[in-house]
Amino acid sequence: MFDKIAGRYDLANTVMTAGVDVLWRRRAAACLTVGADAQLLDLCCGTGALTRELARKVPRGRVVGVDFSEAMLAVANRRPRNNIEYRRADVLDLPFPDERFDGATMAFSLRNVVDIPRCLREVARVLKAGGAFVNLEVSKPQSPLLRRGFFAYFFGVVPRLGGMVGGDAAAYRYLPQSLINFPEAPALTELFKNNGFAAASCVPLFGGVAALHVGTAAPRTAPSQAARPSQASAAS
Ligand SMILES: C[S@@+](CC[C@H](N)C(=O)[O-])C[C@H]1O[C@@H](n2cnc3c(N)ncnc32)[C@H](O)[C@@H]1O
Repeated sequence: MFDKIAGRYDLANTVMTAGVDVLWRRRAAACLTVGADAQLLDLCCGTGALTRELARKVPRGRVVGVDFSEAMLAVANRRPRNNIEYRRADVLDLPFPDERFDGATMAFSLRNVVDIPRCLREVARVLKAGGAFVNLEVSKPQSPLLRRGFFAYFFGVVPRLGGMVGGDAAAYRYLPQSLINFPEAPALTELFKNNGFAAASCVPLFGGVAALHVGTAAPRTAPSQAARPSQASAAS
């Protein structure tokens, strides 16, 4: 699905959000407090909009953008930067060693990931202890009035606009569906805390139509004695 919409994905985003998505990604990048030489990871990087924001933050560091859509990565690679590297991979099985990165981000993607707890654990694994993971995602406003208004737009208008501009009506019918089973913002904060993050907080954007979740990676614990093969059984 993402391969099909890659060519017009950025344009469709601009139209559907009236350009606000750019400001939200900038805000997400600003949540990472890292040095200019930090090693950062942008998960589900798509066409690289947030990856490039991160690259500006770390002129002496490096940003790795990961996505499993070849077509999305092809669009991202049209705007290369010397401190960005794109890798094709599944975020549920990241091809990086433990504690490789100082910080990580993900934008508008966690709704699409089939196993959110596993994804969070995988992000926490590749982060150094204390490193931050910033997740920017569409959310469900807590105010009933705002929720009704936002749902009318997201379920009624977005699929039509996306279909017209993005060129694939089915993909943009899926977009609002992906929000239905996605956890409410407070539940997502708890998921962070139960899956590799020592602390997590949430900042609602635009009254909660989107949210920034920021988690701090917990120190990694050594595998328990029980899980480790004993000397005797390892030798046998
Ligand atoms: C809605 S786009 C968001 C792209 C970009 N982060 C942005 O801010 O515009 C979702 C992206 O997540 C990618 N994606 C979804 N599930 C993935 C997974 N399990 N592993 C890697 N990429 C995934 C898709 O290929 C797509 O590029």
